[in-house]
Amino acid sequence: MESSDFHHALALLDWQAELGATEAICDAPVDRYALPDKQEAPARAKASVTAAAPPAPPAKTDAVQEARRMAASAQDLAGLQAALAGFEHCALKQGARNLVFSDGIAGAPVMIVGEAPGRDEDREGRPFVGRAGQLLDRMLAAIDMGRAETDAPVYITNVLPWRPPQNRDPSAEEIAMMRPFLDRHIALAQPKVLVVMGNISAQALLGKRGITRLRGHWTEVDGLPVLPMFHPAYLLRMPAAKREAWADLLSLKARLTDG
Ligand code: URA
Repeated sequence: MESSDFHHALALLDWQAELGATEAICDAPVDRYALPDKQEAPARAKASVTAAAPPAPPAKTDAVQEARRMAASAQDLAGLQAALAGFEHCALKQGARNLVFSDGIAGAPVMIVGEAPGRDEDREGRPFVGRAGQLLDRMLAAIDMGRAETDAPVYITNVLPWRPPQNRDPSAEEIAMMRPFLDRHIALAQPKVLVVMGNISAQALLGKRGITRLRGHWTEVDGLPVLPMFHPAYLLRMPAAKREAWADLLSLKARLTDG
């Protein structure tokens, strides 16, 4: 076994253990969705003689439609959180420990949209609590803002409310499926400005990637001012980019002060 295979296999095992798997049952995985249902098998076999082709699986867009319907029916943030908790179409939910909905003060003038929960956020059920979140708190404190700051509060959420396995990037399909909830979240939270952090959030809300080019340039989504910024996780890897992040924070502060 190559060492990269070994580390990959070890990471998968870690992931399963973290999800609560305590026992290895078979040597090879069994796709139980692909197995015939034991009780219904004879009936199905009989039916297949006469019946036409089985119904096509539901189109993927059904999940998006269902997300739109459920999101639209939420009348407040608590209702939206409950709707998300009841949304069963996103497979990420099965692998996540917690729904990560939001943190900070609802109704704050600034709403920050991150990408997706990581391990710490999944554990705690709150966005941005790991290392990147701690840096985010320090960044906000530098402009006298914060999630617990009553004078200059922020409200924080993510594009996705469930942790992707091994912190992989969310797929375009997952983003599209969860977007109606994010749109509704923004509508219900009623911020004055949005800050989108990182490429995934820029992709979800602006339909564009390339945060290095986008950052610092105010734009709009449905009439709401939006500031794209580097993601704090990127700043941890590339501390030199903190200079640009600082310029963006000052721009955010000025925008709020100038009304
Ligand atoms: N990164 C994010 O984008 N969101 C979190 O909640 C944590 C890390």
